[in-house]
Amino acid sequence: MTPARCLARQVSSIGKCLRPAATRPLSTSAIHRATTSSASETSSSSGSAKKLKPLTQEQRDYLSSALRVNQAGELAATLIYSAQSPLILRKHPHLRPLMAHMYDQEAAHFSTFNSLIHKHRVRPTALYPLWSVLASGLGWSTALMGRETAMACTEAVETEIGNHYNEQIRSILEMIAEWEAQGYDVSGEIKQLVETLRRIRDEELEHLDHAVENDAKKAEPHWLLTNVIRAGCRGAIWVSEKV
Ligand SMILES: [Fe+2]
Ligand SMILES: [Fe+2]
Repeated sequence: MTPARCLARQVSSIGKCLRPAATRPLSTSAIHRATTSSASETSSSSGSAKKLKPLTQEQRDYLSSALRVNQAGELAATLIYSAQSPLILRKHPHLRPLMAHMYDQEAAHFSTFNSLIHKHRVRPTALYPLWSVLASGLGWSTALMGRETAMACTEAVETEIGNHYNEQIRSILEMIAEWEAQGYDVSGEIKQLVETLRRIRDEELEHLDHAVENDAKKAEPHWLLTNVIRAGCRGAIWVSEKV
């Protein structure tokens, strides 16, 4: 089984608790409106007259934080590939279709989360400029060290991003399971968000597979490079959820 498929399977169980409240709530968002219908409102799609349960403050905070960190992460991904591509393609022009494919998918992910944070009035991370510089620097420096190192960077980043999206999907599925257990319906927007996260998670794990197929494991020293980059990703995710 590839690393990507292995990570994808981790989502099948719903076992993790919601993360703690951290940031500004989705007070005026469409998600909020869609899940805070008055007692007289019912689901029109179910036909079973189920009500939508209002989001708790903790749930609103969690969703705001999730959209914020995802938007920041996807910006970083586009900048990493933008910085890597010129250096890598100069020596390895046969990688142009692959690099373009991965960049295009990252740009689409960034566009998706840009739209979502604007729609739900979630502020971007305050560390946007810092992440921009660090992501470009990471892409440039790993490409300078060669194709294998650039691919090891992709392997490390996509491993952490795959885990990150899996955790978000698990948390939202846990919310949904709780609502359904209480007899409430689930808004179409929440269901759509889960599907969006699943699709993007699968594309990130596809990038991870591409990196491994293109000699990421041959980078020297692979363990040090990937562990340092993975730790950096986890730190950036943790900070962006809060700031
Ligand atoms: Fe992405
Ligand atoms: Fe990716």
